[in-house]
Amino acid sequence: MSGTAIHVRRDDLRQAAPAVLPSAPLEAGQARFRVDRFALTANNVTYAAHGDDLAYWRFYPASDTQGIVPVWGFGTVEESRADGVAPGDRFYGYWPMATQAVLTPVKVSARGFTDGAAHRAELPAVYNSFQRWTGDAADEAVQALFRPLYTTSFLIADRIAGGDRPDAVIMSSASSKTALGLAHALGGTGVQRIGLTSAGNRGFVEGSGVFDRVLSYDEIDRADGKTAVHVDFAGNADVRRAVHHRYGDGLIASIIVGDTHWDAANAPEALPGARPEFFFAPSYVQQRLADWGPAEFERRLGESWAGFTDYAEGWLRIVEGRGADEVARQWMRMAGGDVDPTEGLMLSLHG
Ligand SMILES: NC(=O)c1ccc[n+]([C@@H]2O[C@H](COP(=O)([O-])OP(=O)(O)OC[C@H]3O[C@@H](n4cnc5c(N)ncnc54)[C@H](OP(=O)(O)O)[C@@H]3O)[C@@H](O)[C@H]2O)c1
Repeated sequence: MSGTAIHVRRDDLRQAAPAVLPSAPLEAGQARFRVDRFALTANNVTYAAHGDDLAYWRFYPASDTQGIVPVWGFGTVEESRADGVAPGDRFYGYWPMATQAVLTPVKVSARGFTDGAAHRAELPAVYNSFQRWTGDAADEAVQALFRPLYTTSFLIADRIAGGDRPDAVIMSSASSKTALGLAHALGGTGVQRIGLTSAGNRGFVEGSGVFDRVLSYDEIDRADGKTAVHVDFAGNADVRRAVHHRYGDGLIASIIVGDTHWDAANAPEALPGARPEFFFAPSYVQQRLADWGPAEFERRLGESWAGFTDYAEGWLRIVEGRGADEVARQWMRMAGGDVDPTEGLMLSLHG
């Protein structure tokens, strides 16, 4: 009953290979899931880059030297000793990059369940929640690729709307799905949306239609406006420094969201303007769920999501990959920054 997982070297994220995933008979309360297919984006590389300090290696533990990266996607129950979860049931959630997963479903309802495994108890709740998936197969890729990312985009737009109104919102790694989502969510607010990107992705960002101005990383001194909010998806100290110096005291907020340039220097340093603050979507979600209530949260997010997915389906190219060797190869491409931003990788370890 053993399976296969992709092991990523914790001290060199560019190295990944298939490895045997040991498996044991289920204990009472557990269920075994086939991990059917999942999305792979730079967000997953960020999970690995923060595997220790933000505990992402703890969801599906491997060893001191190898990590199993969590991914968003779909799994089907193969075998169950958990009440309310039966073979054939399908769920959307946060799976291991593997052929299978053994979870301990608790709080099972018509909507889904929580993984009650002891080692996950202290990890953020949003990652432990699995939702029953009854949607169309055609919607799976957009759900896995964008749902966690666009929820973050929506929340950052809400965070910006709750502060002083800037002339501009200036976003690094503008070609990332989360930045495109934020730029889309800011549409109609009257704030100038400035996208910063690498020279190779500039054409895509310019054609994306959701930025008012696009600059490459060496043109930051040409950004417009007296006041700005910086939303940092790249986590690159050189880029952040240039943005802070361009706006000085006019920088109202500096929101660190990501680390797509995960291998660039990123040490904290004294900078002019607002002090950089880390934005962690799983914590902000809990705050907004409490403020608005779950139904109102879902209504607002759902409305915004519908508009974004209509837009994204216009340029997204879904690229499917199957088999453990192919998944390891795609991981190494993603960690090396060798993925076209129009690609939406949907992968499966099953051949
Ligand atoms: N804090 C939170 O709660 C939260 C939630 C969701 C997402 N995020 C973060 O937001 C960021 C974007 O995630 P995503 O999944 O939307 O990304 P994505 O769509 O896969 O982004 C791809 C883009 O990232 C840049 N990039 C990727 N790998 C790179 C590398 N190795 N070297 C240099 N640049 C690289 C390139 O952009 P450029 O050429 O434009 O730089 C590339 O076009 C991630 O860091 C993710 O973790 C954070």
